[in-house]
Amino acid sequence: MTLTGTKVFAHRGFSSQYPENTMVAFQASADIGADGIEFDIQLTKDHVPVVIHDLTLDRTTTGKGFVRDYTASELKKFSAGSWFSDTFKAETIPTLEEVLIWAKTHSLTLNIELKGSVADRNLTVATVLPLLKKYDLEERIILSSFDHKSVHTFQKHNPFLETAVIVAAALYEPESYLRHVNVLGYHFSYVSLLDEEVKALIKKGFRLRPYTVNEERWIKKFFELGCDAIFTDEVEKALRIRGRM
Ligand code: G3P
Ligand code: CA
Repeated sequence: MTLTGTKVFAHRGFSSQYPENTMVAFQASADIGADGIEFDIQLTKDHVPVVIHDLTLDRTTTGKGFVRDYTASELKKFSAGSWFSDTFKAETIPTLEEVLIWAKTHSLTLNIELKGSVADRNLTVATVLPLLKKYDLEERIILSSFDHKSVHTFQKHNPFLETAVIVAAALYEPESYLRHVNVLGYHFSYVSLLDEEVKALIKKGFRLRPYTVNEERWIKKFFELGCDAIFTDEVEKALRIRGRM
């Protein structure tokens, strides 16, 4: 019997076994039984939100230079899978809209992380919110970012959307800060908080989600602490561990 209610979110899709932020990775996450997928978005030159982690194309695609310097249709010419393995060479950079259409026939939670330039902050809100509304997926979405101003702006424009701040190091006064930004979600680097800090915030009703948790002893620990979810590249391992608890 599973004693933990902690969800397993596939970080950038199932990125230990599939090329990150691609449709094949998202489908594999759904097939194996992940509770959610986490992916990164940023705007193209023609203001289309696309799914890619880095600001540049070089690491994960066959393209070169900044994502922001290409239109969405230009980006479609690059492979987003061949850097990982030749098996995945047909994968392209998904648009956010493609992922939303796919999500309509799957029941996973979507954690959309806003990357890109802060200069695009307002444009991103103006582009992404209507898409979420169009596909009526707001109830299954968590909107997060290291850029807390963006998170707050989303929150202001749509108070019903679940939002989260991502932090790399512990916040000084987390409770008052989270209330100030008006978020429920605290997405923290898995080594940055003490167990008692995690427990105290969960008790206050916040949704604690550590990233990126790949080792068994850490995965177990966050399950035991009662985090809302963990972000992991090791989806299969995390689900197996949870199944034993
Ligand atoms: O959303 C949590 C995590 O994905 C943040 O780090 O660099 O993998 O986007 P990164
Ligand atoms: Ca991310």
